[in-house]
This record gives sequence, C-alpha cells and structure tokens, in this order.
Amino acid sequence: MSEAGTYTVEDGIGIITIDSPPVNALGYNTRVALDEGFRKFTADDSVKAIVLICAGRTFFAGADISEFGKPPRGPGLHDVFDIIENGSKPVVAAIHGTALGGGYELALICNYRIAVPSAKVGLPEVNLGLLPGAGGTQRLPRIVGIDKALDIMTTGAPVPAKKALELGMIDALAEEGKLKEDAVAFARTIVDQPPVRVRDRQDKVAPSRGKPEIYADFLKKNARAFRGFKAPFNIVKAIEAAAEIEDFDKGMERERELFQELVTSTESAAQRYYFFAERETSKVPDVPSSTPTIPVKTVGVIGAGTMGGGITMNFLNIGVPVTLVEMKQEALDRGVAVIRKNYENTAAKGRMTAEQVEQRMALITPALSIDALAEVDLVIEAVFEEMSVKKDIFGKLDAVCKQGAILASNTSFLDLDEIAAATKRPDWVVGLHFFSPANVMRLLEVVRGEKTSNEVIATAMKLAKQIGKVPVLSRVCNGFIANRIMSQRGRQADALILEGPTPQEVDKAIYDYGFAMGPFQMIDLVGLDVIGRDETERTVRGDLVKQDRLGQKKNGGYYDYDEKRTATPSPVAAELIADFAKFKGIASTGSIPAEDVVARLLYPVVNEGAKVLEENIAIRASDVDVAAILGYNWPVYTGGPMFWADTVGLAKVVAGLEKMGIEPSKLLKTLAAEGKTFTQG
Ligand code: 3HC
Repeated sequence: MSEAGTYTVEDGIGIITIDSPPVNALGYNTRVALDEGFRKFTADDSVKAIVLICAGRTFFAGADISEFGKPPRGPGLHDVFDIIENGSKPVVAAIHGTALGGGYELALICNYRIAVPSAKVGLPEVNLGLLPGAGGTQRLPRIVGIDKALDIMTTGAPVPAKKALELGMIDALAEEGKLKEDAVAFARTIVDQPPVRVRDRQDKVAPSRGKPEIYADFLKKNARAFRGFKAPFNIVKAIEAAAEIEDFDKGMERERELFQELVTSTESAAQRYYFFAERETSKVPDVPSSTPTIPVKTVGVIGAGTMGGGITMNFLNIGVPVTLVEMKQEALDRGVAVIRKNYENTAAKGRMTAEQVEQRMALITPALSIDALAEVDLVIEAVFEEMSVKKDIFGKLDAVCKQGAILASNTSFLDLDEIAAATKRPDWVVGLHFFSPANVMRLLEVVRGEKTSNEVIATAMKLAKQIGKVPVLSRVCNGFIANRIMSQRGRQADALILEGPTPQEVDKAIYDYGFAMGPFQMIDLVGLDVIGRDETERTVRGDLVKQDRLGQKKNGGYYDYDEKRTATPSPVAAELIADFAKFKGIASTGSIPAEDVVARLLYPVVNEGAKVLEENIAIRASDVDVAAILGYNWPVYTGGPMFWADTVGLAKVVAGLEKMGIEPSKLLKTLAAEGKTFTQG
C-alpha cells in the first residue's frame, strides 16, 4: 500500500487524496498511490465518480524533476494516465495551489477540472528545457486553440484560476477553502453523464489545420526570446502536430519523440540543474534553517541615486515603508521623482493601477539626515564607492540606529570588514549587493563579514526571497562572486583585441555563445567613462575616452553609431587599437575561430570561479553559476560557467588556460586530474 494516498468514499463519490510533500511531485510514491487509488475505485461498484485532490500546499507540481535521467521505477506517468483516461467513471480534478507541468497534464486527463480562485495552472516545462511530455502539447490546444497554447507553453507562465476558467483550462471555480466539498458536489452532478475526454475534441484545433504560417510567424516574432534554447522550437513543432495530426495517439507519438530529444539534451540538463541550483542558494551549512530571524518592518536607504532608488522600490513593492536619505534636497527630490516615474511607466503599461502607484509612493519618507534612521529595522547604504565615506556613514549609523538594527552596505567591491570595523557592532553589519537595475535584477549577493551573526545572515537570506531576489552568499573579497569572476571576461577581451580579433569578432562570438551582447557592445551602451578602469596606466579605453569616444551617447566608442544607434565597425577605434598594440609591442595574429574567442574569454571566468570556491568565498559551484546567470545574464541553457566547464571537460579547460599562459587554480587542476567535475561530483 502506498503511504502517499488515502482513499475514501462519500455517498458514491470516491475521493483519492494524495499527500506527498513538499509539492506532490509525481514521483514514484505518488504514481504508486494514483495507480492504487484508481484501480481500487474502478473495481468498487459503489463508486460512481472519482474526485482527485491533493493535501498540503498544492495540487501536483509536475513530474519529479530529480527522476529525469534515472532508470524508471514503478508505474510510469503514461501508465497511470492511461488508467485514468480509459476508466469508465468520470474523474474530477480538484485543484488548489499550482497545478503545473505533469500535474496540470494529469488534470487534463481527468474529465473535469475545478479549482479554487487562488489556484494557478500551467505548463512550465519550457523553463526546464523540456516540453509538456505527458500529453500537454496535444491536449491543451484542443481546449484553448493553437494561438493560446503557443503562448502558454512557450512562456511557461502559470494562468490564474479565473483566467483559466475563461480559457476553458478549468471547468468551474470552487469556493476558497471548500474545494473538497465543491468538487464532490460537482462530481454528483456528472455521475450519470458519459465521461468527456479532451483527446476526443477537434473543434479548437481544426481551424488551424494546414496553416504552417502560424508557426513560422510565431517563431519569427519570438526569435529573440527563443535564441539559443531548444525547447520552444520543439514545443512549437508538437503544437503543430496537435493541429495537423487528427489521430490523437499519433500526435502523442510525435510529442514523445520531441520530448525525448529534449530530455537527453545538454540544454535541458543545464536548465534542470539550474532549477535546483536556484533553490539551493539559501541553504547555508552553518546557519541552520532553525536560526531565528529578525523582523524587518521598516527600512532606511542612504543614497537616492540609481542604486538607492532601485533598492527602495523592492521594499515599497512588498509594502515595507522606506526612509530615503540624501544629503541635498535637490538630489532627494530627483531620486523620489525617478521612483515615481518608474511606477508611472509601469502603470502606463497597465501593470499597475494609479492607486497602487500612490500607495507605494506614500510609503517613502524622504529625509536629509541619517538621524531619521534611528528606529528602522534595516539600513542599506548605497552611496558611492569610497571607503572613507562608507566608514563615516557606518560610524554615524552606529551612533544613531537602535540596537538590533541590521546595518547593510551595497558596496560592490570594498572590504566589508573594514566598513564593519567603523561600528561597535560588526556582528550586525552585512553586505547586500544589488545588481543594477536593482528593482529588476534577481541576484542579491549577501556578503558575510568576519563577524556577521548567523541571525543577520538568516534574516538577509529570508528577506531576499520576500523581495523576489535569489540570495547568493559570498564571503568578503574584491568584487565578491559575480563581478569578480566576470571581470576576467573583460580583461581577456581587452587583451584579445590587441592581438588581431576585432571588437566585433569578439562581441559576435560572445553573442553567439548566448549572452545578450558582447563586452564591447556593453561598454559602449553603458558608457566608457562610467565603467571603472585603472587610470594610472595607458589603455585602449583610456585612449578612446581621450578622443571623447564615450560610447553610444557620443555616437562612437568601440563602434560608430548613427542617429538610430545602429552600430558599425569603427575605423577610428580600429586605428586606436592598432596604435595601442604597437605601443605595447604586440603583433597581430589576425582573426581566430569563434570557439577560441569563447575559450579565451570564458575559461578564465571558470578559473576565477574555481578560485572563489577554493578560497571559500562561495559555498558551492552552483552558487557561482546562479550568480553569473542572474547577475550577468550568462545563458541559462549552458548551466552557468561551472556547469558549462563540466560539459566542456575540465581537462580541456586546464589545457586551454595553460596554452593562454594562465595558471589554472589548484582546485581546477585537481578535479581535472581526478576526472571529476565541479557540479556533478
Ligand atoms: N520535482 C521535484 N522537486 C520539486 C518539484 C518537482 N517538480 N517542484 C518543486 N520541487 C521541490 C523543490 O526543489 C524544493 O525542494 P527543497 O525544499 O528541497 O529545496 C521544494 O520542492 C519546494 O519548492 P519551491 O522552493 O520551489 O517552493 P515554492 O512554494 O516556492 O514553489 C512551485 C512551488 C511553484 C510548485 C515550484 O516548486 C515549481 O515551480 N516547481 C516546478 C514546477 C515544474 O516545473 N513542473 C514541471 C515539471 S516537468 C514535467 O512535469 C514533465 C512532464 O511534462 C512530463
């Protein structure tokens, strides 16, 4: 008997309740319980209809992702689904929480779906580099039509119950808190009706038959979003099969083929790895989950510039009041106005109401003195990166803030321990390193000083999640994790253009690898004068700045730009680069293959990642990957630098680094020598 299932009968309605924490994933135990329950009620003549419901926080959250790639065990998902779909008694899926992936596909197998208003349903497999492989690509189009199915499956976005009802994804809404009762009542109304099956429907797909342009147009429209991924393309093919192949079982065969291609791909392995990596970051071995946290009901932010403003918005968004401090009235007014403008832009796009804008703005208390922060629970300092200024501020905070307040710095590379030493309470000091734009980017590096207390770490990790960030814990070092490792890419790019490859060749190789843009395109966008550089030495960037080539804003940097900001290779920049190479005595070797450009720029990132692990700056390799993916948009389908290096082969990475004259880190060399990997043991 399975421990995950309870089977009861209420007045002719069989109720199968599955309880498989935390999210009722369709793993081995759950499948056994479903198999058992449906067999039992099929054989029980007193049962006229069946309600399938879950205990705990949610309806089935999908296939058990940890089982992919492992040998199959027990009844397969398809076997269980066949029993349900071919049964003679109508089945009602009773949904709360999130019915996702295989979970929603299971609901689609059932004859009816009822959900509480707070529930969401969806097919998010695309985020794991997969397609809905338990009939979702064939059944959903039969309910919502081809266009909606394309959107729902390629975005993976969950659909709220009310919208799902409009679309036909569910058949009825239950009263919140009365799901079981309402589902049983619903089941009673259909006991005598022949079971309706989604697979038998043609009405929504038939009108799209013989129209290949639907898919071609859809792919064209989404070319940018889908670039580099495999799953969206296979999803589109599978949905096309739902329209073109009338025979449902043949459509299912096509789905299976396309699913198989994905589940065995490196891209999906990387995305599945990333799914768990993102959830792993908040687990800190020496800060147990039982560590008490400090309530944060009010926040102070020092600095109303771009960073401070973005940081402030994170808290306003969750209803936490923020006291925003600036030195001068004008800067304060400007900062508050920018926040308002950002919200108004969101409202203009229909994603917020005017009332919500006002509610959030009303949570700001502008102030011109640190004295205003006496009572806040958390202060985040976001002023410019100057140690003496930060020390001065932290000294003042120590004098002003109540005991028990967390004092955080948003520094991106300064020594947090030195900042903490300016206070008499270094155990209350922590780094909260946001990435720009701070209200958008999901990475938050939580920097742990020598003396930061466990309670403060636990609070910061929890708070990060509350404001929708993924926290990655870092020890103190120059640049912490993301900036430190990625600075290697920039350094190599600067060196490489002196050796022959042009900025556009370097940028193209990095773009084709999967980044949104190459390093030189990025510098031109941000501004050559904005990105930090060592001004004591002559550099190409310095030479460009001297010529007022500051990037896009000046119609020229590494590239030339027209008034529409279209980039073209710049003869002026090329000459400056050649001059500088001559000055350095570096001879041009001409172009090199894109693969070599990638190795040259990214192997050193891997090497730095290994050093970050060796020095215990990061807890685990997957944290380094999460930092690169969320902080620098490293393409998720490569799994991040460390996972990617594993797929390349660490011996190859070591050999590549040595060829470049870069000493591989000890950890990297050891793993390579032992045939091990960073992420898979
Ligand atoms: N398989 C295995 N473990 C899962 C899982 C799944 N489908 N979904 C969640 N978990 C685990 C998480 O790893 C986490 O474990 P941990 O506590 O040890 O870290 C735990 O369940 C709780 O998850 P979250 O921290 O994400 O909890 P939330 O409450 O924030 O979110 C959720 C819940 C919305 C269900 C979210 O977990 C989620 O989005 N899950 C994945 C949904 C999904 O992608 N489903 C499709 C799976 S693939 C599939 O079904 C293929 C099919 O078509 C054949």
